[in-house]
Amino acid sequence: MMVDPKIQRLRELKAQASLGGGEARIAAQKDKGKLTARERIDLLLDEGSFREVDLYVSHATSEEERIYGDGVVTGYGTIEQRPVYVFSQDFTVFGGSLGLGHASKIVKLQELAMQNGAPIIGLNDSGGARIQEGVHSLAGYADIFLRNVLLSGVVPQISCILGPCAGGAVYSPAITDFTLMVRDTSYMFVTGPDVVKTVTHEEITAEELGGAAVHNEKSGVAHFAAESEEHALYMIRTLLGFLPGNNMEEPPLLESSDDPLRTEESLDAIIPDNPNKPYDMHEVIQAVVDNGFFLEVHEHFARNILVGFARLNGRSVGIVANQPQVMAGVLDIDASSKAARFVRFCDCFNIPIVTFVDVPGFLPGVGQEHGGIIRHGAKLLFAFADATVPKVTVITRKAYGGAYDVMSSKHIRGDMNFAWPAAEIAVMGPEGAINILKRKELAVAVDPTALRADLVAEYRDRYANPYVAAGWGYLDDVIEPSQTRPRLINALEMFKNKRVENPPKKHTNMPI
Ligand code: HXC
Repeated sequence: MMVDPKIQRLRELKAQASLGGGEARIAAQKDKGKLTARERIDLLLDEGSFREVDLYVSHATSEEERIYGDGVVTGYGTIEQRPVYVFSQDFTVFGGSLGLGHASKIVKLQELAMQNGAPIIGLNDSGGARIQEGVHSLAGYADIFLRNVLLSGVVPQISCILGPCAGGAVYSPAITDFTLMVRDTSYMFVTGPDVVKTVTHEEITAEELGGAAVHNEKSGVAHFAAESEEHALYMIRTLLGFLPGNNMEEPPLLESSDDPLRTEESLDAIIPDNPNKPYDMHEVIQAVVDNGFFLEVHEHFARNILVGFARLNGRSVGIVANQPQVMAGVLDIDASSKAARFVRFCDCFNIPIVTFVDVPGFLPGVGQEHGGIIRHGAKLLFAFADATVPKVTVITRKAYGGAYDVMSSKHIRGDMNFAWPAAEIAVMGPEGAINILKRKELAVAVDPTALRADLVAEYRDRYANPYVAAGWGYLDDVIEPSQTRPRLINALEMFKNKRVENPPKKHTNMPI
C-alpha cells in the first residue's frame, strides 16, 4: 500500500533524527565503550515505554549543519510501571554540548516533572557549554540549575554521569539528590587537567582528577560507582524502587516474602566481649532487613558511617549506622556531612529513618577542628533533629558524648529508641572518665595499672550500660538483639501515621 507522502516525510525525519550526529560519530561513541543516548534510555526504562518529546528542536546557530534533537534526547516513560522523566545527552551531536535548544528541552522536562510529581533522571555525557552559542549556553545552564533547586525536595532528581561533565555543568548533578558515575568512562571537574596544570602546575589525568573512583571515595561528589553503563542504569531502577514519585506520596509498599516476626539469633553473639573489638555493622543491617538487601549509598565514601535503603516488612526505610569496623565508627567531618545529606533526603520524601548506633564520639584532632568538625557535625545533629519522619534508633554498643545526642537520640525526637544489653551510654568512655575523675588516686597508687583496671570495670558497671538511660526514659526499651527485626517492624507500623509539624517559617538556616 502507498504510504501518504506526508507520513513518509514524518518517518524519514524521525529516522534521520534518531541517528543523532550520524553513523560515524555513533561508531566513535561505541569505540569508547559507550552506549548511545537512546540505547541508554531503552535500558533504563520499562521496555517500549519511552515517549520522546522535542525531537525536532535544533540548535540556535545558523552556520552549523542542522541536527534534530540538539544533542539531548528527552521524554518520559516508566520504571516498574511508575512514571519518570528522562533526558539523555547525545555526545554524537556537538559532543552533547549544551546550547539554547538543548537547555530548553531539559527545562521543559523539569517543568513537567514538577507539575506531574514524577522523578527526573539525567543521563549526562556532554562537552559542556556549546562554544558557538556563547552566553545562551550559560543562560541555559542557569535555567536548569534554577529548576534543579525548585525541584529539590519535590521530586527525586537523579544524575548519571556517562562521559564528560565539566565546568559549571557539574552543578546540576551536584544539586540533584543522587549522582552515579561509571568507572573509567566518566569524569567530573570544575576545571580540567589543562587548566589545573596552567594554574597550579599540577599534572594529573582526567581520571585521576575527577573519575568515578575519586568522586566516590575522596570527594563524596558521587554516591554510586557502577562497573558499566548497564550496571549504572540498573542501579537507578533499583534506587527508584525505594522512593516515592514526589514529596506528597508515600514510598512504594511492597509485598514482603520475609517473615516480619523473624528473629535472628546470630545477633545475640555479634557484639565482641572486648568493647574495643570491631564487628561489621553490615552484618547487623543485613540480618534485620527484608531478605538481607541493603542498597548502600555512598558506599566508598566516609566508610565509618553507613547509609542506604532497605525494606522492613515491605516498607522502605533509610538506614544510618555507625560502622565500628572503620575508624571505630567515629564521627568525623565526612561522615557527618554524608549522613546529614542522607537524613535530609529521607525526610523530604517521607522515608522513615532507622539508626544503628555504635559511636565512640567525634574524632579528635587538629585537622578535624580546623576543618570545621563543629560546623559539619552540626549538620548531622540538625538533620536528625529537624526530621519529622518516623525515627527508630537502636544503640548496639557505644553511644558516647555529643555523638549520643546526635545519633537520633530520644532528645531530638527519636520516636522509639532501643538499646541492646551491651550498650554503653555515657559522657565519655571508661578510660577517659577514670583518667579525669581519679587522677589523684592513680598518681599515688602502688599499682596504678591494677587500680585503673578495677576503676574502669566499676565505671563500666555503674555508668556504661543501658539501664541508667532507660531508667530516665531516654530509651524506650532494652531489647534482645535477636528480636531487633520484629521490634523495628512493629515500631514502624505504630508510627506510620505520624504527623509532626515544625514551627512555621520560611525555611531553616541549616549549617551548610
Ligand atoms: C561545541 C563541542 C564542545 C563544546 C565538544 N564539541 N565540546 N562543540 N561546544 N563545548 C564537539 C567537538 O567539536 C567534536 O565535534 C565533538 O564534539 C566531539 O569532541 P571531541 O573533542 O572530538 O571528543 P573527545 O576527544 O572525546 O573529547 C571530548 C571533550 C572535548 C573532552 C569533551 O571535546 C573537550 O574538551 N571539549 C570542550 C570542553 C569544554 O571546555 N567545555 C566548556 C566547559 S565550561 P565533531 O564535529 O568533530 O564531531 C562550561 C561552562 C558551563 O561548560 C557554565 C555553566 C554555568
